[in-house]
Amino acid sequence: MKIQGDFDTVLVVDFGAQYSKLIARRVRECHVLSEIVPHDVSLEEITRRRPKGIILSGGPSSVYEPGAPAANPGLFDLGIPVLGICYGHQLMASSLGGEVAKGAGGEFGRADLVATGGLLFSDLPLEQTVWMSHNDAVVEVPEGFQGIASTPVCPVAAMEDVSRGLFGVQFHPEVVHTPMGTRLIRNFVHSACDCLPGWTSAGVIEAVVEAIRKQVVDARAVCGLSGGVDSSVAAALVHKAIGDQLTCIFVDHGMMRAGEAEKVVDTFQRHMAIDLVHVKAQDRFLAKLEGVSEPETKRKIIGNEFIRVFEEVAAEVGAADPTPIRFLVQGTLYPDVIESGGTTDLASVIKTHHNVGGLPTDMTFELVEPLRHLFKDEVRRIGEELGLPEEMVWRQPYPGPGLAVRIIGDITAERLDLVRAADAIVLEEIKRAGMYRQLWQSFAVLLTIRSVGVMGDQRSYGHPVVIRAVTSEDAMTADWAKLDYELLGRISSRIIAEVPGINRVAYDITSKPPGTIEWE
Ligand code: XMP
Repeated sequence: MKIQGDFDTVLVVDFGAQYSKLIARRVRECHVLSEIVPHDVSLEEITRRRPKGIILSGGPSSVYEPGAPAANPGLFDLGIPVLGICYGHQLMASSLGGEVAKGAGGEFGRADLVATGGLLFSDLPLEQTVWMSHNDAVVEVPEGFQGIASTPVCPVAAMEDVSRGLFGVQFHPEVVHTPMGTRLIRNFVHSACDCLPGWTSAGVIEAVVEAIRKQVVDARAVCGLSGGVDSSVAAALVHKAIGDQLTCIFVDHGMMRAGEAEKVVDTFQRHMAIDLVHVKAQDRFLAKLEGVSEPETKRKIIGNEFIRVFEEVAAEVGAADPTPIRFLVQGTLYPDVIESGGTTDLASVIKTHHNVGGLPTDMTFELVEPLRHLFKDEVRRIGEELGLPEEMVWRQPYPGPGLAVRIIGDITAERLDLVRAADAIVLEEIKRAGMYRQLWQSFAVLLTIRSVGVMGDQRSYGHPVVIRAVTSEDAMTADWAKLDYELLGRISSRIIAEVPGINRVAYDITSKPPGTIEWE
């Protein structure tokens, strides 16, 4: 599925920056499609993609280091505006005859910038705070360039050669600590590159729907729903494109949170009129998991069983209609595509670690991946634009194996009931406190040890529950959430009063790293 041609595009050439994805997201916030390419991308590939602008990212290297990634010198002669950021700025300066001094006064953190004007700063205050992170610095601009900003430590904090459309900034406009950064990026993409602001939710939906229609034509497709935002938005987009040629399959493995399965089925059938097969396979999963306590074994069992059920149902759905099912819808996101080293142009590959245990690699379906070009925040905005309910669009991420990895020990129906009831209270109170959207994830974990307590005048001997709540950008790192003591107190009292069998509540104050978000 290819949609690039429909939008003005800015390519981000990645020199190993931790912020490349953030640069792409900021450009997209200016309603311009932005895609990341590796630093050794060929000039032919760049020209083929017909970008209206190029951004060279930062990176950990020093331009003079042996083996430091270089920019193709021809890049600056393509007639396409280029903005260099941090390492990209230094690379532009050194490639075009300027001078970069090694270790010339590093700056890390906030810096006071004074600009003298220039296209990048048009309509921006000339004095502003920016975020710096560098050791080397440009000390002499290349011929034709003008230095347009400095800090007390950095003589060339920004430079430009407007006639050639070349710009460089030493600071990071993409991070929130540069408050005017997005406006500077907007000046580049709109004024220097002349990009049209077509990358809007409505524009993307139209292009994706068109691309799906072109791909699927009159064939049939199936989509596995998890109840999460990605598969829901993917299904909604495909449904908009091909209507009842799509059948969704929701496998309830019994490891869902309280009321989740019913909510998913209700929303899809009643509110969205999407053809949905609801497979109630709880017993089947529970039987397979009996006596298993090792986390990875649990995951494998659930993953395998999920595939088996999905295949069986897909075969039944396929047999019920003379038109064969040719396509499988998958909610792969743009960061998955970048991480697997793919580009949005190449033929799709099935990612085995996606969702519940991955999908069968020997499946003969072709993939439809409507979210392949999108970041998660864009998927959420598209979900809202499509009218999906808030609880679906803003649902916190949920692991495929669900409650199975939130019961420490082997899984029984009773333990599932306990963790489900405690988890429902955690969520209810978090939502009531208006914290749900601020938290990346919040949930209860059941420990299968027992401890002594006293309830009324009676000794109790029950299980503890651990509350886990974290803030995070992408689940790679996470902070334990500094939840209000009153809120924690309310959750604790309610769980102990309302869930017989639980007599102690603890709060997990471990960040990631060194912890993980889930307990298993
Ligand atoms: P950890 O616990 O590794 O989790 O910090 C990072 C993120 O991944 C989710 N997670 C999973 N998602 N299948 C999934 O689909 C899994 O087996 C799985 N394990 C963890 C977790 O909820 C968090 O968002």
